[in-house]
Amino acid sequence: MAAAFFTLPGRWRLVKTLRLVQNLPAVKLHLSGVAMIATEAEFEKAKNKLKTLKNDPGNEVKLRIYALFKQATEGPCNSPKPSMLDFVNKAKWDAWNSLGKIPKEEARQKYVDLIETLVSPEVPTQSEATIADVKSSFQTISVTSENNITTILLNRPAKKNAISVLMYEEIMKALEQAAKDDSTLTVMTGSGDYYCSGNDLSNFTDIGPEGVEQKSKNSGELLKRYVSHYIDFPKPLIGVINGPAVGVAVTILGLFDAVYATDKATFHAPFSQLGQSPEGCSSYTFPKIMGTSKANEILLFNKKLTAAQACELGLVTEVFPDSTFQKEVWKKLHAYAKLPKNSLAFSKQLIRGVEKEKLHAVNAQECERLVERWLSEECMNAIMGFFEKKSKL
Ligand code: COA
Repeated sequence: MAAAFFTLPGRWRLVKTLRLVQNLPAVKLHLSGVAMIATEAEFEKAKNKLKTLKNDPGNEVKLRIYALFKQATEGPCNSPKPSMLDFVNKAKWDAWNSLGKIPKEEARQKYVDLIETLVSPEVPTQSEATIADVKSSFQTISVTSENNITTILLNRPAKKNAISVLMYEEIMKALEQAAKDDSTLTVMTGSGDYYCSGNDLSNFTDIGPEGVEQKSKNSGELLKRYVSHYIDFPKPLIGVINGPAVGVAVTILGLFDAVYATDKATFHAPFSQLGQSPEGCSSYTFPKIMGTSKANEILLFNKKLTAAQACELGLVTEVFPDSTFQKEVWKKLHAYAKLPKNSLAFSKQLIRGVEKEKLHAVNAQECERLVERWLSEECMNAIMGFFEKKSKL
C-alpha cells in the first residue's frame, strides 16, 4: 500500500467506521468469518473492492487496513521500529506490530471482512445524522447506540487509550447520556490493541498557572466525579476488555456489573510503583471481590494478572479466546439486551443500593489520599522516570 495513502494529521480523527472494525459489526463478521478462511481470490477481490470505496474511512481504519494487508502478505511485523519523530511510519509500524503473531490466513480473513463492512451496502450502520452527532460531540471516545446497547468506545489507540483530562470529561458525559437513553445495556470497550492504559501520565506534567497544589486538588475532584458516575450508573454496565488494562481502567472494573475479557487482556494496577495509591473504590471492592491477601498483591505489590487469573479471582466474569472473543461476547450481549429493560435496571439498583453510600465514602477517601500522593516526591520521581525512559527510546 502506498505511503501516500496515509495523510496523518497530528491528532487521531474520530471515524464512524472504527466502530465497524472493532466492535458491534464484529458479531456479524465473526459469525461468518470464524468458520471459514478467505481464499486468495477473495483477498484479491477485497483489494479491488477497496478501490471503489467512495468515502474516506479515516486514518484509523486506513491503518487497520494497512496492518491487515501487511500481516496477510508478509506475516508478523518484521521491520525495525521507526523513530518517534517519523510519525507516519511509526503509526503504520504500530498498527502492523499490534497484530502480533496472528497467522496470515486469519489476517486475510479479517482484511476481507473489514473491506466488506466498508463497502457492502448491507452492513448495519448508524444513520449519517447520528454519526455526525457522535463525531462532533466527542474527541477521545466514540459512542454508538444500536440493538438496545449503548457502546462507549475508548478511542485514543495511539496512546493505548490513556485517559486524558478531556477523556475523563467525555466519558462522564457519555455515561450521563447512556443513563438516560433508551438502551438496556451500556458497554465500555477500547479501540486498538489495548483496552486502556489508565490515567494519562501527562495529566501530571501539564501544570498551568494554577500551580501544582491546585492542580492536584483539581485532579482529585475530577477523579471523584469520574468514579461517582460509575457508582451511580443506574443500568447494567458491561466491560468488554479487548486487551491489556492498566491503573484506573482496572480498579474501576469493581464497579462494573459484568466484565468479559479476551485471553490477551492483562490487568495491572502499578500504584506503589508510581508512588500512588488505589482509586476507583478498589480499596473496598477488590478485597470484597477476591479477599484481602489477593487484593493486596494487586493493589500494594503491583501484581499483573492474566485474564484467567482475574477471572478466577472474580474481577472478570468470563474469558474468551481472542479469536472468538468479539463474536461470543456480542452474541451474549445481544441476548442480554433483549431482557426487560426496567427489570434489569431496578435489579442493578437494588444490588448497588445496598452499598452506594459506602462506595461514595470510599471514593472520597481514596481521592483525598491521592491528592497528597500526587504531590509526593515518590510519585513525581516515578512520573518523570516514565517520560525520561520514553525520551531515551
Ligand atoms: N499516559 C500517557 N501516555 C501513555 C500512557 C499513559 N498512561 N500509556 C501509553 N502512553 C503513550 C506512550 O507514551 C506512547 O506514546 P508515543 O507513541 O508518543 O511515544 C504511546 O502511548 C504508545 O505506548 P508505548 O509505551 O510505546 O507502548 P508499549 O506497548 O511499549 O507499552 C504500556 C504500553 C501501556 C505498557 C506503556 O505505555 C506504559 O507503561 N504506560 C503507562 C501505564 C501507566 O503507568 N498508567 C497509569 C497507571 S496509574
